[in-house]
Amino acid sequence: MNLKAVYTKALFNVLKEDLSEKEVEALIEFPKHEAHGDLAFPCFRLASVRKQAPNVISADVAGKLSDPLIERAEAAGPYVNIFFNRKEVSTEALRQLEVLGPKFGDGLRKEKNVVFDFSSPNIAKPFSMGHLRSTIIGRSLAGIAEKNGYNAVKINHLGDWGTQFGKLMCAYTRWGSEAEVRENPIPALMRYYVRYHEEAEKAPELDDEARAWFKKLEDQDVEAVKLWNWFKEESLKEFSKVYDLLGIEFDHMQGESFYNDKMAPVAAELEEKNLLVESDGAMVVETGEDEPPCLIKKKDGTTLYATRDLAAAIYRKKQFDFHKCVYVVGAEQQLHFSQVKTVLGRMGYNWTDDLVHVPFGLILQGGKKMSTRKGKIVLLEDVLRDAIGRAERNIVEKNPSLENREEVAMDVGTGAVVFHDLKNERINSVEFNLEHMLTFEGETGPYVQYTHARAMTLLERAEADPDPGALDGDEAWAVVKELLAFPSAVERAWSQYEPSVIAKYVLGLSSAFNSYYGKVRILEDDDQLQARLALVKAVTDVLKEGLGLLGVKAPDRM
Ligand code: ARG
Repeated sequence: MNLKAVYTKALFNVLKEDLSEKEVEALIEFPKHEAHGDLAFPCFRLASVRKQAPNVISADVAGKLSDPLIERAEAAGPYVNIFFNRKEVSTEALRQLEVLGPKFGDGLRKEKNVVFDFSSPNIAKPFSMGHLRSTIIGRSLAGIAEKNGYNAVKINHLGDWGTQFGKLMCAYTRWGSEAEVRENPIPALMRYYVRYHEEAEKAPELDDEARAWFKKLEDQDVEAVKLWNWFKEESLKEFSKVYDLLGIEFDHMQGESFYNDKMAPVAAELEEKNLLVESDGAMVVETGEDEPPCLIKKKDGTTLYATRDLAAAIYRKKQFDFHKCVYVVGAEQQLHFSQVKTVLGRMGYNWTDDLVHVPFGLILQGGKKMSTRKGKIVLLEDVLRDAIGRAERNIVEKNPSLENREEVAMDVGTGAVVFHDLKNERINSVEFNLEHMLTFEGETGPYVQYTHARAMTLLERAEADPDPGALDGDEAWAVVKELLAFPSAVERAWSQYEPSVIAKYVLGLSSAFNSYYGKVRILEDDDQLQARLALVKAVTDVLKEGLGLLGVKAPDRM
């Protein structure tokens, strides 16, 4: 049961002639004050349809509304305020939550694929904070899509191709050592890369050498391919440590190099459709007046980032027949994705509206962009290990007898970092502050995890009751209402590509539950005990499921 759905249906029965069911649903509000009911319906929109004053309409609608789950409807100026029949609604809600458990809020299966292109770090470089955001947001959106009934196809579009590898090979063959790379691959490769840029400033002929290396790579030269494979392997070993810590798996590791043999056909197609134009020896596609042309091939015939994204989009459409292809990539690549879409549109593909760039803001430290500048590499793995270490010290202090301490520390430490990232709208920048993330008070992952664990301890002796009965009291009602709002949060998080909707939702449910826990003696042996336990059980299910959608684990004990 979904409160909004109940109300939408009841309202729609009254408003059939004036509005569609979707329009009715979109207008419904959740009032902030209890006096304004559980849900409210503003009549401004109807006023223009019916050509009547909103106040007149609200009185008419309130008078006609009836549903067994609605206790009364009041006209208040231009609004209709609805009060639910708490007893009926809570009884029905507890029954449903009990039956559905973690499936509560699942959307209908749609048999449609949604491709997620996320994480996508660049090999031979440190896993940056920007890639951390893409990884966390992308994984969460994939989970949210699944919950809404889609099949998520998770692709890591590794940055494993491009002129930078020419530079890296040039640098490695000049100044590199195999042993150094084996010992600590990313920092070593990064050093060579930085040195390349320093030396190339003084000796521009290095650029030609680097270009030649990349050309060799694109031409499948044995030595170039061997080096590249090795750099990639070493990098992937490092990246997988981060993925393991975060518990992330991909369906496909199809990086940019995967499209190496799929770009020539794209270039040929562009040629055939008369879209390629020469510009300074390079080949480009014009994308209109507002955007610079999209570069397809360089002077020397090598390909570019955009060329590979064109090939990738076409390949994915063929392979997965996606409903949407979602690119979780920082806001600074807006222009790139807009160009890719324009070019595909000019090629005549009619699915370019299904390519969705989901951008996000920066990670800041002390208000400044966190950088991976020369020598000052913040390795993500270290950050996560630091968070886990702090979580473990916390446990030692607060709950020294806890079993499986290490596992819980891992869930809490990584959960803190992940939740902190997801709780604000993704487009905003995030201030990175480990101390803050890990507190048990305030809007943190550990706070929600702790609420869940606390509820779990209440259930130790509880048994499932198929008909738990009704509940009374304002605090219980507030929890029931929060629980029933989960399905619409799941839908909204998807329609807005916004994990923060779920993060805010679990914070709200936690806070409602903690007020309830503070006021009501849950384990008191009276005739509402079963109902109270059913409520607690539902809270644990929904919190766990909600955290799961964010990629955060919910340990039973903390
Ligand atoms: N590797 C790229 C970068 O670090 C991100 C790739 C995003 N995905 C894509 N299909 N372009 O900037």
